[in-house]
Amino acid sequence: MRPTDNPYSPGAGSPPPELAGRDDLLSRASIAIRRIQRGRHAQGLFLLGLRGVGKTVLLNRINQIAEELGCHTALFEADGQSSLPDLLTPQIHRLLLRMDRRERVAHEVRNAFAQLRGFAAAFSVKFADFEIGLSEQSSSGDLTLDLSDLLISVAEAAKVRQTAAVILIDEVQFTTKEDLSALVVAMHQIAQRQLPLILIAAGLPQLAGLAGEAKSYAERLFTYEQIGKLTPEKSREALVLPAEEEGVRFETEAVDLILRETEGYPFFLQVWGSYAWDVARQSPITVADARRASEKSIASLDSGFFKVRTDRLTARQLEYVVALASVEFLPASSTEVAQIMRISVSDAAPIRSTVIKKGVVYSPARGRVDFTVPKFADYIKRNLI
Ligand SMILES: Nc1ncnc2c1ncn2[C@@H]1O[C@H](COP(=O)(O)OP(=O)(O)OP(=O)(O)O)[C@@H](O)[C@H]1O
Ligand SMILES: [Mg+2]
Repeated sequence: MRPTDNPYSPGAGSPPPELAGRDDLLSRASIAIRRIQRGRHAQGLFLLGLRGVGKTVLLNRINQIAEELGCHTALFEADGQSSLPDLLTPQIHRLLLRMDRRERVAHEVRNAFAQLRGFAAAFSVKFADFEIGLSEQSSSGDLTLDLSDLLISVAEAAKVRQTAAVILIDEVQFTTKEDLSALVVAMHQIAQRQLPLILIAAGLPQLAGLAGEAKSYAERLFTYEQIGKLTPEKSREALVLPAEEEGVRFETEAVDLILRETEGYPFFLQVWGSYAWDVARQSPITVADARRASEKSIASLDSGFFKVRTDRLTARQLEYVVALASVEFLPASSTEVAQIMRISVSDAAPIRSTVIKKGVVYSPARGRVDFTVPKFADYIKRNLI
């Protein structure tokens, strides 16, 4: 079949042809945004999930929904290098410019611009789009205070414009504890004033703990949404509907095979779907096509997706991963892994936490450890044991 018609989109943040199984979440996000637009209270959202489950795709979709509802949005991704002021300033600037389009410049919008200039100057943000001259608004240089002032002024500007501001942050686990804490405090201030600004963030599961550590009231300010694998029914839709749109069917057994192989993991559904399309000569896609697609998918993951993850590990971290892969039933207990490595649990703990930071393993429950991605253990066994 023609590769140019292939509807699947394996990749990072690439919107899937069928965003399966996320309707409830999207409707909760939409309700929260509409509530703050009406001056009512709504908790912010933290979308938590492992790599490749579709967090970025969801965040982009929510951004789109917010814009369709007439909100002004600021969307950015934390990277572990840039500071929060560096990331936030250009986005807030853009947001305010869009808010400012109408003819009569509101006092509140001008005030928000002034706050932003002061904020950027206080945190030495290099930003070409405006002159960081002397600002009439003085910032203290204390991020917690200044960020609250800035976001309150943005929210007040949104309020006079009868709109709402939506701040979306991807990979938020990369923000420092201080940055996250300042954000949480700012959102607390906004909530108390019932201002129309909401924070929607996405990140790895350990984030829930980080936010809680940052401020204990974080739990009451945000709803934590677990983003995970798709159910078999939704996986089927994710796989079958895009092909149907193109007039192409799957044999039932081909679908069953792909669902077994991908375990409802969104990224893999796109990879398998894409190869199945490319290897099939015609509709329907047969079980033989699905088998061929499996081989190709695994070969491509081995040389790309899996490999980059193990390439980033040190020798010691690799040993940890190899030990985990050799456990018969996953998730393993941390003790089991330490025993295989012939070291004490306390010596294994720091290695474990660095492997968690690199996103290769995670802790699904206290004292338990597992790979973040299906088929990772098989990859290790094939290539490293
Ligand atoms: N609901 C869904 N149904 C089908 N495919 C999906 C769904 N959500 C995401 N995908 C696909 O999964 C892949 C990964 O999506 P995305 O990059 O948003 O994940 P992520 O959670 O942000 O991953 P990472 O943590 O690595 O950034 C993409 O190819 C996307 O098209
Ligand atoms: Mg992402």
